[in-house]
This record gives sequence, structure tokens and C-alpha cells, in this order.
Amino acid sequence: MKVGVLASGSGTNLQALIDAGPRGELGPARIVVVGANVADCGALERAGKAGIPTFQRSHRDFAQREDFDHALVDELRRHGVGLVALAGFMRILTPAFLDAFPRRVVNIHPALLPSFPGVHAQKQAFDSGVRFSGCTVHFVDAGTDTGPVIAQAVVPVLDGDDEEAVRLRILAEEHRLYPAVLRAIAEGRVSVDGRRVHVRGTPVGLADARLRSL
Ligand code: GRF
Repeated sequence: MKVGVLASGSGTNLQALIDAGPRGELGPARIVVVGANVADCGALERAGKAGIPTFQRSHRDFAQREDFDHALVDELRRHGVGLVALAGFMRILTPAFLDAFPRRVVNIHPALLPSFPGVHAQKQAFDSGVRFSGCTVHFVDAGTDTGPVIAQAVVPVLDGDDEEAVRLRILAEEHRLYPAVLRAIAEGRVSVDGRRVHVRGTPVGLADARLRSL
């Protein structure tokens, strides 16, 4: 399954996906193109180093959100993409994009949705005083971080943590969870039933399987 990754930032999640490929941890998923709305972002650099084709389109060059979305769709289609993975992509996608890839757009969010959607999720969680936070991979719908949850991983918030410590603990789990989800989708093990997503064949026996749903 050909995967297109969209990003805006440093691209550590993209890097985790790139690194997972040769280890066989993406199964039949293969990253064929990386797109960004921010020129010179770390994600584009990482893709370039890995020899993955890239494109850059600035949302500022388009009068309407839909026009930007159509341009993204054209680029992804040109590369035969069948699954879109958002990895720190800081734009809200409209139905113009989502309808082109029905139930084939996923996102990773650094909190246990539906808690703390939107930006600065780690800070929201830290400031709220929760004892556990984590990350969520979900299908993307037209809302902000509202689509059906596919998988989650939990991390503790420890005494003495600052916001950065929590951010890094969550990020380490993001890097484990996202490749596993893309693999499950590419292997045809993920089905959606309303809000509920079923993932068949979730590996068990991991030391921390209690805290990771995949
Ligand atoms: C991650 O925390 C991800 O959950 C969120 O944006 C951040 C992207 O980080 N959607 P990176 O660019 O992958 O390092």
C-alpha cells in the first residue's frame, strides 16, 4: 500500500516511519511521497535524505482552503497514494481532501483523545494535572482531532516532570505506535464500525501491552 505523509515540522514521526520500513515493521506499507506546507521544514529534509520524493505547497498561495486541498490531492494521486498519514501537519483538511481518500487519512495526536484536542495538547494535559496522558492515532474527519480512534498508548505524568519531559515521553510512544497502525491498515486488519475501530491480530505479550492498544 502506497503511503503519502503530510507534515509541517521537524518530522520525527516521519523519521520513525522511514526507519520502520527496512526493519519490516511497516508490513506492506511503503512511503512513496512526503508533502509539506512549510518550505525547508525538517520533514522535507528527512525525506530527501531517505530518497523519498517530496513536494511543497504553501496554503498561503491559495485563496480558498479547498483549492489548497485539491492541490494536495493532485500531488498525492500522482504518486498513486492509497493511504495518507498526517505527521505533524498543521492544517485542517476540508471534505475536498477527505472525500478523495475516504477513511484513508490518519493522524497522530499527542494526547489521549477525546481529551486535549487541538494545538499544544501536551501543555494542555500537563497544565490540567492529569496523571496519565499519551498519544492517539485516529482516522481524520472534518473536525479537529474528532475522528474514530484506531489505537492509543498511555504514559504517566510523574512527580517532578515538566512539560518537556511529558512531551518527550509521549513522543517516544508516538514513534512506536504510528508504524504499527500503518502496518495494520496496510495488512487489511483495520475496520471501522461507526465510532468503533477494530484492529485484528493486535500483537500481545509486549511488556507494556496493558498500556498500548496496538
Ligand atoms: C507530534 O507530537 C504529533 O503527535 C503532532 O505533531 C507533532 C509532530 O512532531 N501531531 P514531529 O514533526 O513528528 O516531530
